[in-house]
Amino acid sequence: MSGRALRHHHVPRFALECGAVLDGVRVAYHLDGALNAERDNLVVVFPALTGSADAAGDWWRAVIGPGRALDTRRHAVLCASLLGLPYGSTGPAEPERRPFPAVTPRDMARLVAALVDSLGVRSVALATGGSLGGMVALEWAASFPDRTRRGVVFAAPAAHTAAAIGWNHIQREAIRLAGPEAGLALARMIAMQTYRTPAEFEARFGREPREAGGYQIESYLAHQGRKLVDRFDAHSYLTLTGAMDKHDVGRQRGGVAAALAPVGARLVGVGIPGDRLYAAEEVRAWTRAAGAQYVEIDSVYGHDAFLLEPEQVGGILGAALETAEPTPLHTGATR
Ligand code: COA
Repeated sequence: MSGRALRHHHVPRFALECGAVLDGVRVAYHLDGALNAERDNLVVVFPALTGSADAAGDWWRAVIGPGRALDTRRHAVLCASLLGLPYGSTGPAEPERRPFPAVTPRDMARLVAALVDSLGVRSVALATGGSLGGMVALEWAASFPDRTRRGVVFAAPAAHTAAAIGWNHIQREAIRLAGPEAGLALARMIAMQTYRTPAEFEARFGREPREAGGYQIESYLAHQGRKLVDRFDAHSYLTLTGAMDKHDVGRQRGGVAAALAPVGARLVGVGIPGDRLYAAEEVRAWTRAAGAQYVEIDSVYGHDAFLLEPEQVGGILGAALETAEPTPLHTGATR
């Protein structure tokens, strides 16, 4: 984490899909680069399950900045902490907010829209993110097709699959059974097995033993578990994995194709062959249904390639921004 100061936007009341209403909602964010006079150069980046709001200083620092793919000399780049994350926005990491109601990626996208409204921005040049951030980007596009000039969705399905719900269930059970610290560490270890590939682990650790006994892969996973416990919150993990499970962009919209039809031609879906969490084929399937473009990242890493292959990620984002400006969208009220 870079420790750069966050900005905050306040929303007095925010109604969630589940029917609950949150009072006094805080949205923490970073805005890198400057909005132009037309306010048409905003790029919105959504973090993943444990990603901070500091995409430019932390997890996409090789992708965002002066002269980088998301060039802050041309674009203003907004990254807000998702509703429920323990990185400055309202969420269950604050004891007085518990029990925290169920939230969805649709709620998360809508809350960021309130922040975008407050910046006086009518439509965004690009909405993007990976994994959970990709789900929120897809929800953004389906919720606000006339406010989305382009979207790039990395490693995210149109709806959370049975297998992905199953992985999240096992991780939540670990937290319930082992408690917030040991359980969160266990959840991270389980998740890491889905974020990377057997080939990467084999090449990196093989059967290498540890001096203290056991194998290097065991100490690597334990280290990743401890690292997450130091920077994350178990309540947020339960809320956010619950949100991922609720993800279904076609819900109450007549299915995936109908939900994405108004915006599909302006979307790019990015699959990662070898992704054990969200198979490339699932991404390809929704791009076909939506009439969106499909591209792939070639990587040994699997799911985490959207974080670990900045050159390819930057190339895809840069290409999307280079495409001719889509037909002007009608202007009018911001919502
Ligand atoms: N034993 C113990 N620790 C080991 C080790 C071993 N055999 N081999 C490496 N490590 C440690 C390194 O010392 C390093 O520690 P540090 O981070 O404290 O400096 C760490 O493991 C490096 O981990 P690695 O996975 O190699 O880092 P990376 O740069 O390849 O990946 C991330 C960085 C951010 C992508 C990754 O660590 C991560 O967090 N992945 C999950 C992201 C995520 O949430 N994805 C999906 C969201 S839905």
